[in-house]
Amino acid sequence: MAFPPRFLDELRQRVSLAEIVGRRVKLIRRGREFVGLCPFHNEKSPSFNVVEEKDFYHCFGCGAHGDIIGFTMQTENLSFPEAVEQLARVAGMEVPQESREERERASREATLQGAVDAACGHFEKMLQGPEGREARAYLERRGFDEETIQRFRLGFAPESRDSLKRALGNSIPEALLIEAGLMRRREGSSETYDYFRNRVIFPIGDRRGRIIAFGGRVMDDSQPKYLNSPDTPLFQKGRVLYGWALARAGAAKQPSAVVVEGYTDVIALHRAGFNTAVAPLGTALTETQIEELWRMAPEPVLCFDGDAAGQRAAARALARALPILKPGFSLRFATLPGTDDPDSLIQRHGTGAMKEVLDRARSLDDVLWRIETAVPIDTPERRAALQKRLDDQVKLIADRSVQEHYRNHFREKLRELLGGKRAPMGARGNFGKFGSKLGAGRTAADRARMRRFAAQSPWREEAPSMDPQRLARRREEVLLALVLNHPFILNEVEEEFAQVEFLSSELDNLRIAILKGHAPQPDLDADTLKLHLKSNGFAEAVDRVLSAEVLDHASFARHDADPETVRLAWADTRNLFEQRRIGAQIRDAERNLAGDMSVENWTRMQPLFESKDDGDDGL
Ligand code: UTP
Ligand code: MN
Repeated sequence: MAFPPRFLDELRQRVSLAEIVGRRVKLIRRGREFVGLCPFHNEKSPSFNVVEEKDFYHCFGCGAHGDIIGFTMQTENLSFPEAVEQLARVAGMEVPQESREERERASREATLQGAVDAACGHFEKMLQGPEGREARAYLERRGFDEETIQRFRLGFAPESRDSLKRALGNSIPEALLIEAGLMRRREGSSETYDYFRNRVIFPIGDRRGRIIAFGGRVMDDSQPKYLNSPDTPLFQKGRVLYGWALARAGAAKQPSAVVVEGYTDVIALHRAGFNTAVAPLGTALTETQIEELWRMAPEPVLCFDGDAAGQRAAARALARALPILKPGFSLRFATLPGTDDPDSLIQRHGTGAMKEVLDRARSLDDVLWRIETAVPIDTPERRAALQKRLDDQVKLIADRSVQEHYRNHFREKLRELLGGKRAPMGARGNFGKFGSKLGAGRTAADRARMRRFAAQSPWREEAPSMDPQRLARRREEVLLALVLNHPFILNEVEEEFAQVEFLSSELDNLRIAILKGHAPQPDLDADTLKLHLKSNGFAEAVDRVLSAEVLDHASFARHDADPETVRLAWADTRNLFEQRRIGAQIRDAERNLAGDMSVENWTRMQPLFESKDDGDDGL
């Protein structure tokens, strides 16, 4: 809302800039001014000046400049009206409501918010009471402790049509509960009923943490898994982020923002110390949400699931961000390995693994480049088409300067790509999946299936009984058998296959030959691929990899396995290689530590331990 100028002038007069700044910066008086170490950049000698009588500050080091409201917005990460309200509280001034309409709206919202907050309290109480026993057990099974339950105000809506009405009906009019999305009226009847029934409740707060809506999760496999409050005057899905208030507080101390897909992912990240995690509410990221993220950090990291649905969500977010990019502000994209979401990754591999995923996030231009080059560019027409696609994307960027830098950057990369010795295969990466029909449409149920598959993988039983060298070789053989019998998988995982590290040089040669054979012909069928390899000197290796001895242990790699099984098997086997890589790093670090028992070498090892699966042989 717009504040009357007179009110703002008075506010500036009544609150002392030096006092507000002095809460964060140690100020020394120098004549009519104050100086101190600039809070906006790192410095050793003070170049930050506060000119109280003119109500402005200025840093000669970094150029930061503003008045008391600007300072409060910057340091507390607040919007203009929020900063004004906060300062008004300091000054003991009442914030004027501009018009009667606005005043009425504000009071309606306050009433509505009161109702939602009361409901939140009711759900919390239900969780702690006898009705909530099953829900408490459910949360405990999922690793939520008491502190987390309280911090995120988790609750439970019992299996009842009128639990909420009975609890709140006396103090809150039913019409208000309906407007707040907490109750519904059966169509064509006066009968009303609770909206959330038999669900664990995740309260959703606004940017200041006031509860405005809920997500409710079933405790079994029934559908829909989550039910969210309908849009209300308080709550518009596309303008809210789950975990928002906590994340804003975190970002005010240290700018950063991590966007994940789900409620439980946000909670898991906060618990693991990533205190700027948020999630959209089951919808694609909107422009409003991106703008909000930019107020927390210049380059928020989007960390969506590694499955096709997650990658599509990332691509959609990229498309939304492209037109509104501005100098210094962008998004980065992290991809989760295999079938994990952040919650399960942290539970299985620890905080270190999550940190590594976030550290490896790719820049927006890199991801866009990968998406556009994930198709063959082996003819002049296809190359021209690539150039046109890139140009078209760049034109969408509204900011002139960013647009120009993108154009130059892609021109340069294109020159490199086309000028290189050989460029037939396209830089197909993880994001190649976008184009792949095979990966499309994977659902949460599929993901759950993948996790179950991983849990019962034959590898788990076999591992302890085999000697480590042979086991390592066997894994390599199985991975090759999988690819030889089902080359389609390479359309989805070519980059991973190109990066996997083999110990056996004989098998590694075969791996490279497969990559070479596949590249020119992405639709290669299994028989043609085998024939091609056999006539190029790999007959023996191919036969051994496809021998009964190997396939007996890996029915999922046989030629008659169905595509879904093949995908699951790939993810699981691939994960074992990842574990081995971490194991090797641990041994390296141990050697370093033996040679030099320094704190530095010791701390270097900790994240490795955390990202390592227990019980694996670590080859
Ligand atoms: P996921 O299916 O990935 O669930 O949905 P999750 O967050 O990992 O939850 P758990 O771990 O199974 O409990 C991601 C997000 O999509 C929205 C929710 O916001 C959810 O957190 N969603 C999902 C819905 O709104 N409705 C649904 O039926 C499913
Ligand atoms: Mn999950």
